[in-house]
Amino acid sequence: MSRLRVAIQKSGRLSERSLEILRNCGLKFARSKDKLFWYGQDFPLDVLLVRDDDIPRMLLDGVCELGIVGENIAREVMLERNGSDGMTCRRKLGFGHCHLSLAVPENMEISSASELQGLRIATSYPSLTRDLLAKKGISTEIVELSGSVEIAPGLGTAEAIADLVSTGSTLRANHLRELEVLFDSQAALYCTTRSIDDEKQGLLDRFLSRIEGVLQAAESKYVMLHAPREALDKITALLPGVEHPSIMPLEGSDRIAIHAVCGETVFWEHLEALKAVGASAILVLPVEKMLA
Ligand code: PRP
Ligand code: ZN
Repeated sequence: MSRLRVAIQKSGRLSERSLEILRNCGLKFARSKDKLFWYGQDFPLDVLLVRDDDIPRMLLDGVCELGIVGENIAREVMLERNGSDGMTCRRKLGFGHCHLSLAVPENMEISSASELQGLRIATSYPSLTRDLLAKKGISTEIVELSGSVEIAPGLGTAEAIADLVSTGSTLRANHLRELEVLFDSQAALYCTTRSIDDEKQGLLDRFLSRIEGVLQAAESKYVMLHAPREALDKITALLPGVEHPSIMPLEGSDRIAIHAVCGETVFWEHLEALKAVGASAILVLPVEKMLA
């Protein structure tokens, strides 16, 4: 009996949301004592809880078929290994947003990345930083550090850094300022491109369609409203991400009921605009599950 493995971050920024997505796919786990391996009970998918930096290599080495990890880390490892053979990004997951940025000491007189030409840049993402700077035509000396990159300028080991910025508090605490964003990153689902047997492939397809459903449901809302029939076109155009709403007659009224699944975020501004063209009794409901 085949089983799939998904690697997720053990503890850190992405852990909680990664697990939440798996749970929303209807997966339940028996936790092992060491907590690094969770056995999937209702679906043959087990979870490996590991350091985020290890996830791309585990995918490339065939230890797991799936992984949830920051694009920054995945890109770094793919570049390190000369291209993307072995794994592919299936879907961005819409959380864990951060960017890889160039930062310099607050008091350094510099206004653009091009002025870093020939200087030393400390980073934990040497391949990605080198690649992105080369694309801008800037050549620098890369000082590779495994952590605490933010203290490198203070220690005199580099003039600038390329590091992940999320809230910006690490930069502020170290008297650094963001000079330029090099790369926008978020959590993404990566999948092996190694050939796997038919049974595993079947499981993988089932899991991917569930996860797609979970993510679509999270973004979707079910909207119900009443409106004059002649406003139908205007209302359809105002409902975000809707092409074909359902129309129902309202007993004893010349108005109609319109129901639709909105595939994009529904804001208060949308509801106000709907009201302005004659809609009333507007209800917005969450969508729990979806299977296309
Ligand atoms: C990153 C980065 C900074 C910090 C920035 O580390 O190296 O230390 O986050 O975040 P802030 O702008 O909110 O202060 P991360 O948490 O990804 O840890 P890791 O590199 O050890 O995985
Ligand atoms: Zn990490």
